[in-house]
Amino acid sequence: MTTAATTRPTMPPCGHVPKPYAGPAKSEVLATRRQYTNPAIFTIYREPLMLVEGHRQYLFDETGRRYLDLFAGIVTVSCGHAHPKVTKRVQEQAALLSHTTTIYLHPHFGEFAKRLAAKMPPGLDVTYFVNAGSEANDLAIQMARLYTGHNDVIALRNGYHGGSPAAMALTSHHTWKYPTQLNSGVHHAVCPDPYRSPFAGTPSQIASQSAEDIRETIRYSTPGKIAAFITEPLQGVGGVTYGAPNYLKEAYAIVRAHGGLCIADEVQSGFGRTGNHYWGFQNFGVVPDIVTMAKGIGNGYALAAVTTRREIAEKLTQRIHFNTYGGNPVSMAAGLAVLEVIDEERLQENSRVVGGRLKTGLQELASRHRLIGDVRGMGLMLGVELVRDRDTKDPAREETAEVLEQLRELGVLVGKGGLFGNVLRIKPPMCVTAADVDFALEALDVVLGRVEG
Ligand SMILES: Cc1ncc(COP(=O)(O)O)c(C=O)c1O
Repeated sequence: MTTAATTRPTMPPCGHVPKPYAGPAKSEVLATRRQYTNPAIFTIYREPLMLVEGHRQYLFDETGRRYLDLFAGIVTVSCGHAHPKVTKRVQEQAALLSHTTTIYLHPHFGEFAKRLAAKMPPGLDVTYFVNAGSEANDLAIQMARLYTGHNDVIALRNGYHGGSPAAMALTSHHTWKYPTQLNSGVHHAVCPDPYRSPFAGTPSQIASQSAEDIRETIRYSTPGKIAAFITEPLQGVGGVTYGAPNYLKEAYAIVRAHGGLCIADEVQSGFGRTGNHYWGFQNFGVVPDIVTMAKGIGNGYALAAVTTRREIAEKLTQRIHFNTYGGNPVSMAAGLAVLEVIDEERLQENSRVVGGRLKTGLQELASRHRLIGDVRGMGLMLGVELVRDRDTKDPAREETAEVLEQLRELGVLVGKGGLFGNVLRIKPPMCVTAADVDFALEALDVVLGRVEG
């Protein structure tokens, strides 16, 4: 009889045959990278993984070995790798015209903004396109400051909003911050996630106490009026953390009572990933004043956006504001195709159904594996927090790294996050199937069994 520790789960079949790889050897690729690129740019496995081809939810290395991708290029490949429709539209546009900038007209620019507005709550219908999530958040904060006339911004502990100096100031993990002067006026309120909250009580009581912490932060650290409150509806890098359903409603009311705008950073949680809704904030019954987007909006092409109400956007017109690549016709073509594919292939519904199946499976694993301290998330944005002891919640950091390594050996790629790097982040392309997640669960079962010893 085979035991979990000796089983090698079988990946579901895939008809795609990768092209033979004819590029430089992996050792050469690694050596060149090490010599000529900034050493701060890191890889995640002990033996770096080289990926040369993709097909929907699968990736192929230089030997043709296939992997099930449950991390989607860090929550970015929303529709699937090398999606034929997205690829075709990008190729067609690149062959016609790659770039002119927004000082000239191009039909894709307004059209994509219009289609994005149709996905938003009424009133959120004016968009500024940029190239990355950090830039989108910088611009959102700028607009909020201009609109309100206030400077202070509240973000949440354990949040991640990017790596530019302004976005790094919003980010709240010491691991992602440099000891240099960042943007001033940013304060961090308590994260409402009940698993590691400093407050006690039910998740809903913890949510209320966390919302009250925003009021306290405003009282003690600001002039009493703020420009904005920025949150990821579900924290991504932080390890899929979020408050009980009452949190954002209570938080938004407190922020608005102090003159602030509410910014939803949908860089990870948008575009149907959470399953029940198109936007992460809709899971909590709130309507933000500004929404920032990146990653999944372009299925891997450099594209990001800030959508808000006209009266807020108009404040930018007092000076010249320009972004060279923002609104680029090729990225707009990608974005338009992505919106269509998400609807045509019912990827939000797939996130709900397949994500639900995966979460149930993870909860079942939690009943058998002591390393699992918490399973959380919605749709295809799931987190599994690993701890050495369920009472002390001692983060199982090394064990998490080992789980990642061993999953890779079995052909499954996941991410990790959280302040202590002890949360498995599972956020696949939204076309992942039930058979894929069953395979991933089997693989995780085997690996957890081995790591637990
Ligand atoms: C929630 C969130 N906001 C902003 C960013 C920054 O995006 P970018 O890396 O495109 O600048 C990220 C990146 O991981 C993110 O997860």
